[in-house]
Amino acid sequence: MTRVAILISGGGSNMVKLVEAMQAEGFASPVLVGSNDPMAKGLEKARAMGVETFSVDHRGFGKDRAGFEAALSAHLHEARPDVVCLAGFMRVLTPDFVRQFQGRMLNIHPSLLPKYPGLHTHQRALEAGDAEAGCTVHEVIAELDAGPMLGQARVPVLAGDSADDLAARVLVQEHRLYPEALRRFVAGNRHFFSL
Ligand code: GRF
Repeated sequence: MTRVAILISGGGSNMVKLVEAMQAEGFASPVLVGSNDPMAKGLEKARAMGVETFSVDHRGFGKDRAGFEAALSAHLHEARPDVVCLAGFMRVLTPDFVRQFQGRMLNIHPSLLPKYPGLHTHQRALEAGDAEAGCTVHEVIAELDAGPMLGQARVPVLAGDSADDLAARVLVQEHRLYPEALRRFVAGNRHFFSL
């Protein structure tokens, strides 16, 4: 059974949907949920779902990104994951870390890549006057938010939308997109899809 580890930084709503899908459908096994923040609310949600958790507080490492990542990957390798899913994980990973999991690490990004890599994606879409926004699941490579795209979901931008309004509308689609992208990835299907 494909073993899936998930990294989060906050509430973990995407992680919850991934774990629920795996537990309900059995297409993979959620073996570990980790965070760079020991206080991440998603950690207790994962434990409540019966998934083992860990945290490595990145603040304890200061500028020593390699040191943080060494601790992170040590926990990950212990769980022998076949796939690593970044889900609301807010730390930029170095090429050395990515290399350890390249080809089997996914991320969900709240924009229609290649538009708006990086942060504040919804504000940027609003400022650009876009009629549509959305989210993308992609394979993680060393370049930020730039790996092969697996799938996208789109939402309309509505008159008067705030960034929070748009974020909430996109998040609903993230919760549909990520489980479907993981199902397909685990099945070896790399064809791009749109929800
Ligand atoms: C989501 O919009 C995700 O795309 C972004 O962080 C937000 C919260 O994610 N990276 P989650 O609820 O922690 O999964």
